Amino acid sequence: MPSFPKPKIPDAVVPPPLRKPGKPGVGGTPKGQAPSDLKTSPPERKSHGDKLLERGKDAPIDALGWVDQRLAASGFLTGMLFRKVPKGTNWFYTLGSATLFAFIVQATTGVFLAMFYTPSATQAYHSISHINNEVPLGQLVHGMHKWGSSVMVILIFLHMGRTFFFGAYKYPRELNWVIGVVLLILTMTMAFTGYLLPFDQRSFWASIVGININGTGPVVGPYLSDFLRAGPELGATTLSRFYAIHMLLVPGAIIALIGAHMYLVVKLGTTAPPWVKAERPKVASPVSELDAGANGRVNGNRVNGNRVNGSPVSGEGNGAL
Ligand code: HEM
Repeated sequence: MPSFPKPKIPDAVVPPPLRKPGKPGVGGTPKGQAPSDLKTSPPERKSHGDKLLERGKDAPIDALGWVDQRLAASGFLTGMLFRKVPKGTNWFYTLGSATLFAFIVQATTGVFLAMFYTPSATQAYHSISHINNEVPLGQLVHGMHKWGSSVMVILIFLHMGRTFFFGAYKYPRELNWVIGVVLLILTMTMAFTGYLLPFDQRSFWASIVGININGTGPVVGPYLSDFLRAGPELGATTLSRFYAIHMLLVPGAIIALIGAHMYLVVKLGTTAPPWVKAERPKVASPVSELDAGANGRVNGNRVNGNRVNGSPVSGEGNGAL
């Protein structure tokens, strides 16, 4: 394995107490020796204002350093941001982060929509038209949330396809795959429950169809559709239930599961693409092989290319764990 040089952390982001002092004679005057022009042009004394300005410039770094000394976050962040990724990592590996970004957009725009939306059967439709027609940037935020939900669903499927075709569901990442499946179900639940919220003709009838489809599931189906409908007919109670699921229950679960998902990604690393072969670990060759190099034989057999006794000397196989 090639060893990468440790990245240098720029001095500007290291708090002054942790900075390495400069070597004597480097970047200044040699140790113990006064600069030759000290008598002719003595250094100007810094004014109080200059000193304040300097301290002001260091203030954000000092504050960060203060927090960091208490959280010990820089070690973790450096480890995470500069961690090694397998050879062959490509654009397909950005689909997970793209899904995460789509979720963050949904969460942010959703918070602003919630400030103006009223989850009542008589008010919901009007609150949405109020958002679209009167609230500044309301149409933009509503549009971002509406289209963003489709974007997130498309991205999550593409990301799942990437992990499937790259074999990333295999040992030791099975648990991350299972968490991903739950995230997929929760994302679909978000899209389904959000669809009813405008409470217009389309969302009303589409939700009836969706609830009935859920009811056709084996064993739990009928219970699930009863739970979703929250009454004999789709109405005000259904809207409240969908709103609670959409606003509180599922986003909380998604945030917790994304946390677990990311933890496992950082802990286990990502899978190499299936076409990347593992590099042979650099270990000392056994003495018998060294001898073979000298006389062309191992245990009496001729050494043929990279094969000894018919078995490959170099590690062959997939680099993906
Ligand atoms: C909210 C939904 C999701 C988010 C935000 C998310 C995010 C991520 C990110 C950022 C990564 C690392 C980079 C990458 O490989 O793309 C990752 C890896 C992974 N994700 Fe997801 N993911 C989600 C849903 C899913 C789903 C639905 C599945 C599968 C059912 C899944 C399975 C995996 C697996 C197995 C890995 C490890 C990949 C590897 O080792 O190469 N994820 N996820």
